[in-house]
Amino acid sequence: MSIHKEVKKVTTNTLHKMKENGEKISMLTAYDFSFAKIFDTAGIDVLLVGDSAGNVIAGYETTLPVTLDQMIYHAQSVVRAVNRSLVVVDMPFGTYQGNSEIALASAIRIMKETGGHSVKMEGGEEILDSIKKIVSAGIPVMGHLGLTPQSIYKFGTYTVRAKEELEADKLRKDIKLLEEAGCFAVVLEKIPAQLAKEVTASVSIPTIGIGAGGDCDGQVLVMHDILGITTEFKPRFLRQYLNLGEQIDTAIKKYVADVKSNDFPNASESY
Ligand code: KIV
Repeated sequence: MSIHKEVKKVTTNTLHKMKENGEKISMLTAYDFSFAKIFDTAGIDVLLVGDSAGNVIAGYETTLPVTLDQMIYHAQSVVRAVNRSLVVVDMPFGTYQGNSEIALASAIRIMKETGGHSVKMEGGEEILDSIKKIVSAGIPVMGHLGLTPQSIYKFGTYTVRAKEELEADKLRKDIKLLEEAGCFAVVLEKIPAQLAKEVTASVSIPTIGIGAGGDCDGQVLVMHDILGITTEFKPRFLRQYLNLGEQIDTAIKKYVADVKSNDFPNASESY
């Protein structure tokens, strides 16, 4: 008799069935073992080891400096914690753009060294060769359209994308290309809700929105934002579920005071 409890793991097929059945997909970022374990147990369908690690873990202004080795380290920690969720690992800037051989080598390193289940790549037509090469090696790819933070210096700002018809049209074409290339899902970041609704209906693969309205097949947010750890970042699309930053501040102040006053440790906390 097996002592392991059977868990129905989330796969790329599960996500397709969820779209077909109209069941929404929950996705959240994670970068370390302890939080990933809590999120997996709580029932998050997809854990994204996002290159937003560059912002919320490393304190960089953009995601551009994040390296493949850093993503691999975070993904290894997350994968060790996960029982049920599908783990998606961001391919960082410079590891897939413009050269499909390098892209494949980067994706293979992620899959071999982390045990993650898939990779995510930002962009449409421009990176299609890289996506096709990776998919043809049997590696599931999640696309990412709209506001793609690795291109922040091209955009110049983090405001809503595809408000103009030209850019909206490109997005309509790109999502079809990603579907045809074999992407299993696509993140839509910061685009008008109406456009997200339209393109979600136009493809058979699930769309996961962040700032893209309620008609995507799922939603993704950054863990530090929903838990209230990043207090200065409050975009309209964010729903903050905790004030962890404030709670941690109160707890740490109390700890400092207890140490200074010699209240901690007391007799029962000593050997
Ligand atoms: O890196 C990240 O956290 C992301 C999400 C914002 C979708 O790509």
